[in-house]
Amino acid sequence: MLHTEKGKEILFNFVRKICGCNGDWRMDSFVETTIKEIREKVGNGRVLLALSGGVDSSVAAGLLSRAIGKQLTCVFVDHGLLRKNEGDEVESVFGPNGQFDLNFIRVNAQERYYSKLAGVEEPERKRKIIGEEFIRVFEEEAKKIGAVDFLAQGTIYPDVVESGLGGESAVIKSHHNVGGLPDYVDFKEILEPLRNLFKDEVRKAGLELGLPEKLVFRQPFPGPGLGIRIIGEVTADKVRIVQDADFIYRDEIAKAGLKKLPDQYFAALTNMRSVGVMGDERTYDYAVALRAVNTIDFMTAEAAEIPFEVLQKVMSRIINEVRGVNRVFYDLTSKPPGTIEME
Ligand code: XMP
Repeated sequence: MLHTEKGKEILFNFVRKICGCNGDWRMDSFVETTIKEIREKVGNGRVLLALSGGVDSSVAAGLLSRAIGKQLTCVFVDHGLLRKNEGDEVESVFGPNGQFDLNFIRVNAQERYYSKLAGVEEPERKRKIIGEEFIRVFEEEAKKIGAVDFLAQGTIYPDVVESGLGGESAVIKSHHNVGGLPDYVDFKEILEPLRNLFKDEVRKAGLELGLPEKLVFRQPFPGPGLGIRIIGEVTADKVRIVQDADFIYRDEIAKAGLKKLPDQYFAALTNMRSVGVMGDERTYDYAVALRAVNTIDFMTAEAAEIPFEVLQKVMSRIINEVRGVNRVFYDLTSKPPGTIEME
């Protein structure tokens, strides 16, 4: 509920009118105060953070780096299910040539994930494998580093509220969000510098810390990544197809100068192959699905209206530039009955 405008209004009234806070805090003072608090708490200690490249863990990494520099180690697991070039983009911000002072460890675990996922078609099983493998890879890295004083996490306020709510509703999709890590790492205390912030405040903190806008305003991207945007078995070749198609789709949406961008949009790879012609040749290739939704809270969503010329351009580029695709569909399904991701 705290994602919604109504939820925010209720909280705003509670904080301002009932608790009497005057609301004059600014993001630069939040960043300054938090850096001071982290320094006091951590002292000479060592901190370990699992960096996904998402907004929350990236802002947490930025804050911690400004506070304690090389006492921070970030482990970034490239599971081979990231969007095109994403692993390198994360490395360019947090790696040795980036602007932050920290120890950055990139684990290239692509092959490991692909071999675990070989032959697996069932969506929940895929999600479980990706989540469990993450813990295994991270645990191996943590062992090499040895005992640390703090395990940092990019938990934000809605995560705190939602995890406290519980509930009995059926598990529609198991979420892979590194919640199990504390059991596998040798540390004394958890550090969660963003736990009082809403998403928009986390983004402001990111800008204040000088993180690139592309990273701060990136779309939501699920923990299991492209693994759940490839229907059926995941292979390196299917990852290439969906990465390239998605890159073209995002590129054309950016060029189209739409008045309002859809709240989330991406390409997915259906498991359907069909007959087509290319030149004089018969093809039997995959169909790519384009998804774009508008939503307030990601609990319900409507398919976004994308101008037909834009869709046509995307279709034509995908068919011409991505080997292995001969058909492109636009997904009109709302949520419910669909979900935003396809698996
Ligand atoms: P669905 O597909 O459930 O997606 O309608 C709702 C929103 O959640 C994102 N999503 C995930 N995010 N781990 C995440 O961090 C996950 O396992 C996961 N599954 C879905 C999805 O991208 C959408 O924004």
